[in-house]
Amino acid sequence: MIVLGIETSCDETSAAIVKDGKLLSNVTAFQLFHSKYGGVVPELASRAHEKQIVPVVAESIERAGISKDKIDGIAAVHGPGLIGSILVGLCFGKSMAFGLNIPFIGVNHMEAHIFSNMIEGPKPAFPFINLTVSGGHTQLVLVEDFFKHTLLGETIDDAAGEAFDKVAKMLGIPYPGGPIVDKMAKKGNPESIRFPRPYLDEGSLDFSFSGLKTSVLYFLRKEGFEKTKPDEQFVCDVCASFQAAVVDVLVHKLVVAAKKFNVRDVAVAGGVSANSELRERLEIESKKNNLRLFIPRFEFCTDNGAMVAMAGYEKLKRGIVSGLDLTADPSLKLS
Ligand code: KG4
Ligand code: ZN
Repeated sequence: MIVLGIETSCDETSAAIVKDGKLLSNVTAFQLFHSKYGGVVPELASRAHEKQIVPVVAESIERAGISKDKIDGIAAVHGPGLIGSILVGLCFGKSMAFGLNIPFIGVNHMEAHIFSNMIEGPKPAFPFINLTVSGGHTQLVLVEDFFKHTLLGETIDDAAGEAFDKVAKMLGIPYPGGPIVDKMAKKGNPESIRFPRPYLDEGSLDFSFSGLKTSVLYFLRKEGFEKTKPDEQFVCDVCASFQAAVVDVLVHKLVVAAKKFNVRDVAVAGGVSANSELRERLEIESKKNNLRLFIPRFEFCTDNGAMVAMAGYEKLKRGIVSGLDLTADPSLKLS
């Protein structure tokens, strides 16, 4: 069974081919031009998807070494994300499925992220806890089976990646700042500034990063920081101290969730899972707590077609398909 997966929920145009549960190709076109605007511009993102969707899908088919008449089903994300961006991949996927007279499978983007740890081995065993940390989302999910999951907690304001990018902006670091904050933090002292750890109520598995971001802002104001004349060591210390606060909270809540639901496997997905300090701390804490940790390759940490193709393949195998009237839902929940 061959499934084409399409991802266009934000600013990556990505397509992948999965055959009998094995990934044959994954092609992603990035939209780097957003950095000059300090963030993703929705209108420009959807226009870029329109330009890229045909060559990206064609290349994914070519690299997989198949022809399009061999495809048994087409999966595309129908939410959550930017409506214009989602519509490009969704309409393209539905039209292609209609043209080839094969099933169309709508995939929830957050559900697809959970599948990013099932693209290649070793894979987590059910039940496991999944932490998705990206620019748009921070979620803890109990995954009991392929399509049986419970949302345990999520951010009540900013996503972790969003907080990284906003703090980076305050420091004069270009968008997306997360990877640069990570790099600069390596040269800084994480104990130089004690930023608050937003744990919320005792036992809560929700997150909140907006207060932490504001305390960085107040600290920079108090220190009279000027973006135009940055002291490199000062910036590195702020990056390291801010990153330590975010990582402390993410790691703590993941371990608490694993203990609470008595699971042994924990998985992490989303762009922020590329963060080196988060990876290091997760390794240490999972060993300490006797947990098995799964983090995908960087290619599958960020938005990608492979996770959509894999989710689509598992759905099609179970006969779960969608009508061609399925529409985009920018705030689609994880059900
Ligand atoms: O999953 P993703 O590619 O896109 C979505 O938001 O769906 O995640 C992008 C986010 C951005 O906020 C980016 O700054 C952050 O992931 N990110 C990082 C790192 N690499 C990417 N944040 C911290 N450290 C990193 N190394
Ligand atoms: Zn994502």
